[in-house]
Amino acid sequence: MADAMIWSIGGYAPPHIITNDMLSERMDTNDDWIQTRTGIRERRSAGDDETTASVSSKAAQAALDAADFKANNLDWVVVCTDTPEMWSPATACFVQESIGAQRASAIDLTGGCAGFLQTLQIMSPLAAAGKRLLVIGTELLTHALNWNDRSTAVLFGDGAGAFLLGPSDSGPKGIRVGPGLSQSDGSQSTILGKPYGGTRHPITAKVVEKEETHTIHMEGPKVFKHAVALMSDIGRRVLKEAALNLEQIDWVVPHQANQRIIDAVTRQIGISSSRVFSHVAHFANTGSASIGLAMSDMLEQKLVKPGQRLLSVAFGAGFSWASQLFFVDEVPPSQFIHSTLRA
Ligand SMILES: CC(C)(COP(=O)(O)OP(=O)(O)OC[C@H]1O[C@@H](n2cnc3c(N)ncnc32)[C@H](O)[C@@H]1OP(=O)(O)O)[C@@H](O)C(=O)NCCC(=O)NCCS
Repeated sequence: MADAMIWSIGGYAPPHIITNDMLSERMDTNDDWIQTRTGIRERRSAGDDETTASVSSKAAQAALDAADFKANNLDWVVVCTDTPEMWSPATACFVQESIGAQRASAIDLTGGCAGFLQTLQIMSPLAAAGKRLLVIGTELLTHALNWNDRSTAVLFGDGAGAFLLGPSDSGPKGIRVGPGLSQSDGSQSTILGKPYGGTRHPITAKVVEKEETHTIHMEGPKVFKHAVALMSDIGRRVLKEAALNLEQIDWVVPHQANQRIIDAVTRQIGISSSRVFSHVAHFANTGSASIGLAMSDMLEQKLVKPGQRLLSVAFGAGFSWASQLFFVDEVPPSQFIHSTLRA
């Protein structure tokens, strides 16, 4: 039976950089606190002329161009985001129009920071069955931050990552999507999220007056504890289901939440930090975009080689958490648009 195959990867990080020092001019924080607690040095922020659809389209086009694949051969365009273009229609419809995927069906999915892996798990059987898909994880989280809440505002950034997927038994070789698992616990839904603007807390004049009602709410220490335990656990469960052990894994690709979480997951899983990818220092937590951006950066840095096995783990609002194995048959073409030279 065929698997889903990643034929190419595209990444887009907006050119505007917000450093920790820039944040300290805006709120009572400093570079030392942010780096010690999170490992984050800077994050990207979408410009006033950019939206979730335009940022998604850039990552999508990067993936299409890398594979020299024509958009009108796509069957599906799927955007995973918690910061959509509009309430309705789906952000994916704007992307479909912008990249010229006339034949495709377009839909959005929302799953917090685990959403990209969840979306991949939902859509992979379609790719395995012969459909050609773009799965794009995008977030403009700097548009949803409460700049008066210093413990949350310093953590997040903007970006998009896109996978072009098709069946493993026809078309090019690339990275095979292996076994994966995901799970949710809705009893924790008030701990991390953006509660206002939906039907439970509609926007009223009173709500508009209070800036924090339009922004992300997070109880940081509780998120930290659950994120570490649940990502480590689901990563181990996926390995067990696939009858693999850690020695057979070349890279762990964790959700880029923050470096302390990544380090704690590394210790709990019991793998050397040299086999755990992190670029959180430069891009911060980009939510649904995080795994796609990380993999696009890994390909740009030529860290991924044929024959390798990658284990990804993610956690976010919901709570939802997920883990996914990837098997590298061949290194797929990729394009990571990030506008600046690596420090
Ligand atoms: C947010 C987080 C970094 C805070 O770290 P922490 O060690 O738990 O810090 P606390 O919230 O206990 O705050 C410690 C102190 O630092 C202060 N502080 C918080 N944010 C600060 C900032 N940006 N700059 C300076 N001081 C800050 C607090 O006000 C508190 O001060 P006090 O002791 O005088 O009250 C940490 O809880 C965390 O990483 N949580 C997970 C967040 C995350 O990754 N979410 C997304 C997951 S998908």
